[in-house]
Amino acid sequence: MSANRPAAVVVLAAGEGTRMKSKTPKVLHEIAGRSLVGHVVSAARELGPEQLVVVVGHAREQVEAHLGEHYAGTRTAFQAEQNGTGHAVRMGLEELGGVWGSSPAAGSGGGTVVVVCGDTPLLSGATLSALAETHSADGNAVTVLTAEVPDSTGYGRIVRDATDAVTAIVEHKDATDEQRAIREINSGVFAFDGQLLADALTKVRTDNSQGEEYLTDVLGILREAGHRVGASVAGDHREILGINNRVQLAEARKLMNERLLEQAMMAGVTVVDPASVIIDVTVTFEPDSVVHPGTQLLGATHIAEGAEVGPNSRLTNTTVRAGARVDNTVADSATVGEGASVGPFAYLRPGTRLGAKAKAGTFVEMKNSSIGEGTKVPHLSYVGDATIGEYTNIGAASVFVNYDGESKHHTTIGSHCKTGSDNMFVAPVTVGDGAYTAAGSVITKDVPAGSLAVARGQQRNIEGWVARKRPGSAAAQAAAAATQQVAEEN
Ligand code: UD1
Ligand code: CA
Repeated sequence: MSANRPAAVVVLAAGEGTRMKSKTPKVLHEIAGRSLVGHVVSAARELGPEQLVVVVGHAREQVEAHLGEHYAGTRTAFQAEQNGTGHAVRMGLEELGGVWGSSPAAGSGGGTVVVVCGDTPLLSGATLSALAETHSADGNAVTVLTAEVPDSTGYGRIVRDATDAVTAIVEHKDATDEQRAIREINSGVFAFDGQLLADALTKVRTDNSQGEEYLTDVLGILREAGHRVGASVAGDHREILGINNRVQLAEARKLMNERLLEQAMMAGVTVVDPASVIIDVTVTFEPDSVVHPGTQLLGATHIAEGAEVGPNSRLTNTTVRAGARVDNTVADSATVGEGASVGPFAYLRPGTRLGAKAKAGTFVEMKNSSIGEGTKVPHLSYVGDATIGEYTNIGAASVFVNYDGESKHHTTIGSHCKTGSDNMFVAPVTVGDGAYTAAGSVITKDVPAGSLAVARGQQRNIEGWVARKRPGSAAAQAAAAATQQVAEEN
């Protein structure tokens, strides 16, 4: 938590984000498994502010419901009409009340207020802390976080005088050609003296190209009133990327992904081809895990020490324990035990729990099932709603028939069983410990421990059938040749 704990953080998230051309409000678009506003709120929380308020407006119910679900306790302020960023901050301060309310008590202090936009998801808590620190160390009335960007189109430009002091921020739409050439831009992040901010906001006018109250005008107002205006240049301009359209959304996703993978690699994870791996902020790793190309790790997925995932896999909310191998697999809400093996070409659906050294092999689908230690389901099978003990082998092409058209039923198979290939286990059914089942069996009745269950039609051979029913066919000729050869050998 920052030593310069601000009195409040105001997050601006009331805009529609028309340039996104979306039914979803801009701040609820996601990158790396978290909404844009979620990234900003998370970074803001790292500052440990006394108060945090998110200004909402467009699709208010949706944004508030999202914050309530993921960031419980987050306060919101309502900006009924999106009259600009200055107006939005005014609404935020009103919600916070006290010294910043609608009738500010002049000169009563009130501490630092940090303002961030809800559409800058790459901003880190560390950068916010550094800004708050510079702000108080320099004794500024306002400190703006700026950056030198290769393309400043669309951003507010930082105008400096001959002594390099910041004099104003001019919005792209209001800028002269000369100002548009400036590459230092406003990130939309500020630290303010709360009291001076509240006072200055009452003086912001709307005589600009958009007819809005610009927060950025506060800088000029404070400077003209003789207050200290400072700027802090971000070390990495990519961190302040603002999302206004889907091209920038994709760019931010890529940058965030690179940052997350870099952290993982620095912590000892081998990522064979970072460019083809996608991860969410909530994914965790242990050192010496390996991620192969074409892999997506989403939600609360955890990859333990020495485990290898990929290539070409998508794991959501899945735990892969130490030394396990997951290859060409889709898994959701599953647990893969220590040293277990999954795939290639497996589908683990919610509630799959593979024990240590267990196997879900090629073309195997599992759902809501517990597979004991050392148990193998190697080929072409569906295991649904089942409990299987330890060191059992399930034959190829087995189906756990769990659905009778109305409800799902459970199958229990014991430990050290060997079930034959092409078995149907018609649930509810139980196979006892150490039991065997014959290939091609449809198991509808419980199998006692240690028995062999055979549940299939008896084989009947009708000799000479081909010669009689398919005379002259290739099959008949082959059969005749084989019969003759046997006769000659005798
Ligand atoms: C803003 C800044 C610009 C800066 C850029 C950085 C102003 C006037 N301009 O421009 O200097 O370079 O961000 O990304 O401040 N919002 C509200 N209520 C409103 C208007 C906006 O809550 O009435 C919110 C939006 O939801 C958004 C944020 O404020 O999260 C910024 O608004 P946006 O319209 O994206 O501003 P920019 O044009 O990007
Ligand atoms: Ca923006």
